[in-house]
Formats: sequence, structure tokens, C-alpha cells
Amino acid sequence: MTWGRQMAENQMWGGRFAGGPSAIMSAINASIEVDQRLWRQDIAASLAHAAMLAEAGIISTADASAIKTGLQDIAAAIEAQQLSFTADLEDIHMNIEAELTRRIGEPGRRLHTARSRNDQVATDFRLWVRDALDGLDAALLDLQRGLLAQAGLHAGTVMPGFTHLQIAQPITFGHHLLAYVEMFARDRGRARDARERLNECPLGAAALAGTSYPIDRTQTAHALGFREPMRNSLDAVSARDFACEYIGVAALTATHLSRLAEELVLWTSPLFGFVRLSDAYTSGSSIMPQKRNPDAAELIRAKAARITGSLTAMLGVVKALPLAYAKDLQEDKALVFEAADALALSMAAMTGMIGDLEANPEAMRAAAAKGYANATDLADWLVQHLGIPFREAHHITGTIVKLAETRGQALEDLPLTDLQSVEPRITQGVHDVLPLDKSVASRNSFGGSAPAQVRAQIAYWTEKLS
Ligand code: ARG
Repeated sequence: MTWGRQMAENQMWGGRFAGGPSAIMSAINASIEVDQRLWRQDIAASLAHAAMLAEAGIISTADASAIKTGLQDIAAAIEAQQLSFTADLEDIHMNIEAELTRRIGEPGRRLHTARSRNDQVATDFRLWVRDALDGLDAALLDLQRGLLAQAGLHAGTVMPGFTHLQIAQPITFGHHLLAYVEMFARDRGRARDARERLNECPLGAAALAGTSYPIDRTQTAHALGFREPMRNSLDAVSARDFACEYIGVAALTATHLSRLAEELVLWTSPLFGFVRLSDAYTSGSSIMPQKRNPDAAELIRAKAARITGSLTAMLGVVKALPLAYAKDLQEDKALVFEAADALALSMAAMTGMIGDLEANPEAMRAAAAKGYANATDLADWLVQHLGIPFREAHHITGTIVKLAETRGQALEDLPLTDLQSVEPRITQGVHDVLPLDKSVASRNSFGGSAPAQVRAQIAYWTEKLS
């Protein structure tokens, strides 16, 4: 491996540094490969800073206007991929500033008055993460809408509900999907909370202690859409809890995606057969022609693990840092970007799968019918009609289920005489509660799985997400 050329003289620090960094130093120190993604934010922050410097009389309006034109031209050049960055200039901040000076000369050398890369990077990064949170919110909304549309088709589609992955009680597929709409709503709430806390501006904190120039921090904060300037310059340059929080929100969202992905893996297995994914989101096997593998869902599960890894790493980077800035903080960007990329892809894949999955109501109903999912209904009938205490009713029902199992029959198919051999007071009336649809419809408590409740929740979310 080569480390590139060693610079003859130091392009950045001039005066005190006679020699350039060793090639290895440059390789470990340069962050341009990663932080070039901040170029839009860096230019926006520099535009706000230059305008403020001119208004405060710190630089001339002529210089500010040259800086503005120069930065706008650079933005256009980067957009058109006509500008390449160099690791010799370490990071995106130095690359853009050097390019500005190359283009406009001396005014470019005045841009860095009353700021430091420490407040600069903190500002750029906050702007980036703010956009990422907004993007996540929009992606979550899309997914919620997809789930809601499927729930609307299946408000009355009976499926087994599980606890311990054992068939528990019948529910509807719509009810199951709405559980995820709720979960993702909370993720959106967390993204909003994080955005609110993040939205204050570090710019003007300079290296760590503020500056002797008469800057107007409120002006730059507002120009960049921040609520207000941060009140402590040390905190401004060293705080990365916004990045931790972002990855935290991302990790939790990815964890929720992973739970849904796991369900898709189960449901698409021929052993369940509840759901069929379209060709667009499955792959075949190179050897077994019958296979339809839910690869996208599996990868969403694994990406959740990596995003969680980013969170652990991010917390680890910050954990033992004394105030204020230390170069450790340069490693924050790769962690956030990697988490953001993995999450964006996971969100898109999940939204795609949910959008065109096809449920198999017959398979769902057959599974619910097989698993004695209506045993609780029998026990409840014993309580409600015979006054038997629930614990005892549970015991009686258990005996009946055992009998049905040995006969290989469903509860509703057992002859009344068999039921009465266990509890003589049982009457024909029990058949009013045993059929699956009646069982589902009976759980009509608020938030329950009765189709009437599910439809009410669908109406609530349709209104809320419109
Ligand atoms: N590339 C640096 C980072 O991402 C910018 C800040 C550098 N500050 C410094 N004092 N060397 O953190």
C-alpha cells in the first residue's frame, strides 16, 4: 500500500509548519473522502457567515459579495462534478476555502475571520443531520401510508395472533399491520424531538471560546434556519449528542423495521404461507428452483445490527472526551452517514415490500382454525354463562382442548356430548362464540382486534396521515 506523495511544504498551516505531513499522517488525518458530503451545508454556512461579517462591518461589502459569487460558483461546479477535492487539504472546509481563494483571491482569505473549523464543522454537521431527520420523517410517513393501505384491505382478514410464536387468539391482519403504524409514529415523534433539540446554532463559537470580533450570532443562526445561537461556546464546538440521538433514533427505527422484516420472513415461508412478496423483492436460488427468498427482509434485519453498531461506536467516540474539540470527533461523520445510508435503503425496501405484498387470507384463516385460537372464547363463555370462576374455566377448557386434540378436531366441531362429558352444564349456546369471526368480533374493547375497532383505527390514521 502506498500513502501518496509527501508534500514539500505545508499548504494549510504555512508559517509554523516547514514540512508537510508524513504520508501516513495525511492518511489518518484527512477526512475529505467522508466529509465531502457536507459540501452543501458548508457553503450555506459560509454564505451566512460572510453576509454577517459584512453587516457587522468586519469585512467590506465588496469582499462579501465576491465571496458570495465565488461560493455560488463553487456550488455549481461541485453540483456539475467539475471540481475534485484533494486529501492534501484534509477536509471539505479547507478544500472549499482554498478553492474560493484560488478563484477570487484575497477576499477568499478573509472568509475565515471570526470562525474556526470547530464551529464550522459543528454547524455543517447539524445542518446535515437536521435534513436527515426530515428525510427520515418523510420516509416513515410513506411507510405508514403503505401499511395503512394494506390494513384497509384486511380489516376483517382473520389470522392467528401469536404470543411466544404460539397461536394465541384470532386477530385480523389489518390489526397486526396497524401495530406497526403506531410503532413508526413513535419513531417519527422521536425524530421530531431530536430535531427540536438539535436546532440551535454553534456558528460563532469559533475555536472554543468565542471571538473578539463584533459578530451577530443570532443573524447567522436565523439565516441557517436555527432557532437561536447556542449559549455556551465550549458546548457548541464539542457537543455531539445530536449525532448520538440521530443514530439512536435510526437504530430504534431500524430495530422496528427488523421486527417487521422478521415477520415477513416467517409469513413468506411456505410453512406459514400468509404472504407472498412480489418478484421485485425476492430472489431465486441458484440450485433450488422452487425457492423465493425474502432477501430484502433478511438484509433489513442485518442492517439493523450495523446501525446499532454505529450507535455504540458513536457513544464510544464521545464518552471520554474532555472539553472542547478533539479530533476524535472527526470520526462521527462516517458513523452517522453509514447509519443514514443503511436506514434509507432499509426504509425504501420495506416500503416497497409492504406496498406490493399479497396476503393469503385462506392460509391465515386455516392457521387460526388449526391452533385452538378460540380456546379463550370457550373459557370466557363458561365464566359469562355458567358463572364459573375464570381459573376453573381455564382448567375445564384445557381438558376440552386436550380431548379435541386427541380427536384431531377443532373445538367448534366437537359434539355437544363430548363438551358435556367435561362440564355437563355446557349448552348449544357455546357455538355462538366459537366460530373464528365471532371470536374476533367479540374483542371490541378500545384498541382490540374486532374489525369494528380496526376500522375505527384505520379512520383515525387516514385522517392523521392525510
Ligand atoms: N475535519 C474536522 C472534523 O471533521 C474539522 C475540524 C478540525 N478542527 C481542528 N481543530 N483540527 O472534525
